[in-house]
Amino acid sequence: MTQRQVSSRKNKVRIEERPPAFVYGGKRAARALHCEQVELTTLARRHGTPLYVYSATAIRANVLGFQKAFASQSHTVCYSVKANSNLSLLRLLAGLGCGFDVVSGGELQRVLAVGPEAAAGVVYSGVGKTAAEMDLALKAGILIFNVESAAELELLATRAARLKKTARIAIRVNPDVEAKTHPYISTGLRQHKFGVPISQARELYRRAAAKQWLDPIGVSVHIGSQITDVKPFGETMERVVKLIRQLRADGLNISFVDAGGGLGIRYQNASATVRERSIRQYAQALMKPLRGSELHLLLEPGRAIVAAAGALITRALYAKENGGKQFLIVDAAMNDLIRPSLYGAHHEIVPLHPRVAGKKTVEGAMDVVGPICETGDFFARERELPPVAPGDLLAILDAGAYGMSLASNYNTRGRAAEVLVDGKKAQVIRRRESFEDVVRLEK
Ligand code: LLP
Repeated sequence: MTQRQVSSRKNKVRIEERPPAFVYGGKRAARALHCEQVELTTLARRHGTPLYVYSATAIRANVLGFQKAFASQSHTVCYSVKANSNLSLLRLLAGLGCGFDVVSGGELQRVLAVGPEAAAGVVYSGVGKTAAEMDLALKAGILIFNVESAAELELLATRAARLKKTARIAIRVNPDVEAKTHPYISTGLRQHKFGVPISQARELYRRAAAKQWLDPIGVSVHIGSQITDVKPFGETMERVVKLIRQLRADGLNISFVDAGGGLGIRYQNASATVRERSIRQYAQALMKPLRGSELHLLLEPGRAIVAAAGALITRALYAKENGGKQFLIVDAAMNDLIRPSLYGAHHEIVPLHPRVAGKKTVEGAMDVVGPICETGDFFARERELPPVAPGDLLAILDAGAYGMSLASNYNTRGRAAEVLVDGKKAQVIRRRESFEDVVRLEK
């Protein structure tokens, strides 16, 4: 499907869509943003705002995009739970044949809640696994631990021996490759806290192989997130494959390579075609160094699967001018979606019902801000928006990844409800938090 852009009459600002998830439908005057076949205004009225809405069809299409692009390579897509950990989405993904990448005991428990058999497809990464978390994963029988330090290796060997359960492991190596992304989410450089320097990995594998209850079967790597240039992925894989050759020469039986996640999306001028193409380019970059290696490839995409499949629906509350600046105050805030505040991230903001300029509307450059008591609480700054009036509903696009999973109760705001749409059907997959929910654990 190609990109469709709708320009609001009388106003040059182009309004983006995200097929197959979010598209405008209906006759010209009554044009309205839909999630698949469901009008978003209906959902906002029924469930209130702020509201997260996800498209099952878009999630399926993205998973299929990965599976098709990697068809010539034995592989498993292990969806990265941190991107969006809602149980209903995990169930949907398990049904599509996905495994899971988890980074905490909590995330593992979510996967186990989907079905204990899902443990067989779990890779467990993270620099700070506790003994209790290791025990949980050992008992569940996960596929592989991505070990991030020598000290962690020792603890895991002890726990596995105590439980008499073999821990299949990969050592997460730090390839010292520059990923060209936001510094907070770049992980593959020498000075980052992640993994073991690739130069020291061989020695660590030797130690691991000597432990009775550890089975080193793979090598893992993850260089960062929101990476749009696929070259660093290819370079990383070349370094990893070189290491695997050495490990095999050392007598180790390495059969898995975990490429991590990190494939970025376009937050502006995005389209399904571009998305599919970028997955294909990513696949080519990764698979080239793997040719003939007889390795099973594990992938840990998060954002590329769910980001464009989700939007945050919010209502404009007030418009005001301060110091010559125009502000639009909406009912969602940084506690619902922190990406703009934390990373300066760009998210397109579109009206559910595009309208023409009138007495009550504001248009042109404005700051779209939430009600939280921080200047950093914004969704857009100096953004040219089409005409919008207080009371209007807006969609903040590409919010399916790292939106709800990073949400908090800051300012004692209950977290938003979540709805999953599939064709004509819409289902609440998390109800809105009430005040009682928020204070439940307090004395
Ligand atoms: N695997 C590991 C070991 C990871 O640390 C991550 C993300 C992933 C996979 C998935 O990466 P993805 O395919 O989603 O890029 N909150 C930030 C992103 C943080 C990413 C952390 N690790 C954001 O909103 O941009």
